[in-house]
Amino acid sequence: MKIRRLVLLAGVAMLVTLGVALVTVASAAPGSAGDPVKGQYIFAAAGGCGCHGINLAGYRAGGAPFGETFAGPFGSVPALNITSDKNTGVGNWTDTQLIDAIRNGVDDGGNALFPIHPSTTLHFMSDADVTDLVAFLRTVPAVSNKVSDRQLNGPVPPAPPLPPSPPTSPAGGLARGRYLATAVSDCGACHTPTTPQGAPDMSKMLAGGVIPREGGTFEIGPNVTTDNATGIGYWTQQDIVTYLKQGTGPNGRTADGLMGEVVAGGFGGLGFHQLTDADAAAIAAFLKSIPAVSYVPKAPRPASAAAAAPGSWEAQFQAAHGRAPTAQDIADRNWSLDFFAKNGRPPNEADWMAYWLQSRP
Ligand code: HEC
Repeated sequence: MKIRRLVLLAGVAMLVTLGVALVTVASAAPGSAGDPVKGQYIFAAAGGCGCHGINLAGYRAGGAPFGETFAGPFGSVPALNITSDKNTGVGNWTDTQLIDAIRNGVDDGGNALFPIHPSTTLHFMSDADVTDLVAFLRTVPAVSNKVSDRQLNGPVPPAPPLPPSPPTSPAGGLARGRYLATAVSDCGACHTPTTPQGAPDMSKMLAGGVIPREGGTFEIGPNVTTDNATGIGYWTQQDIVTYLKQGTGPNGRTADGLMGEVVAGGFGGLGFHQLTDADAAAIAAFLKSIPAVSYVPKAPRPASAAAAAPGSWEAQFQAAHGRAPTAQDIADRNWSLDFFAKNGRPPNEADWMAYWLQSRP
């Protein structure tokens, strides 16, 4: 579920239906130090901050154009309104407060945001880029949407210690590709497998992920390492560039599902397709530089109500939640069973919170 933050609310069809045009960037709000035009680019390279909705106004029941809400053992956490609405959005926040929220997961009142917000990844966005991103957010039309308070079953897990954020981002080459892929576009959120405990398995970086979706279904983020048999070793660097910018790969492959959404974009149609040729090439060069890993991501066997044996955990889950368990539910359960085996007691709330911190970076 850690990638649910990237689950954009609707695809291209919705954008077309809504007639959302490319954003015309206004000048930065007074006092905003950043450049909103550069910030719009960072926003696109980040795939459009889709959890907050196509209108970026956060969660509201009924779905698009509003954002997502997240539920789990921790409680429920709705995505917040990040438009410039002064009452229900972030219109009154200072640049420093917005930057602190994006990179350090702290809100305007100094409260820790629940780590579904990817601050451990965005922490590594440079001062220059995050300042521009904030200037861009200031230009997003205000939408009044009062998002309900989160409901937590325990304290917010403490943020892991991280080095200071970089002042500037690399200008080119492999370093830039690594920066974009890991601190801005977050390819690993969908393409890196997770350990049984739910943390990213960096020994298999970008070797393929399983992405839980609503209703117990899955999407596969394929292996994008250079392994020839299981990855995309046979793709040229230009093939990767074309895929990121146009959504079409070799052999008639098209970017569908979530990849289609991050390529096409959410708010204003801003997504990977706007990457400059140089940046797309830098990301492609980075993909070509990481170790080939032979690995095929596989979704766990779907546990449907019909398939669940009476009295089984799956059947109990179905009865309690009215839906089949997702991959994340199954991973959570396996974690709690391992915990019990190791510690001789079931995990308490604090244990769950610690687990959530490391499994949902
Ligand atoms: C929100 C989740 C998500 C993010 C973020 C994401 N991808 Fe993907 N990616 C997918 C999914 C899902 C597919 C499979 C699409 C399909 O089957 O049409 C995919 C497919 C691909 C493919 C095609 C692989 C093949 O074998 O067909 C490449 C290459 C790729 N992604 C590269 C990237 C890169 C590089 C980034 C970061 C710049 C990235 N992706 C970010 C979810 C994501």
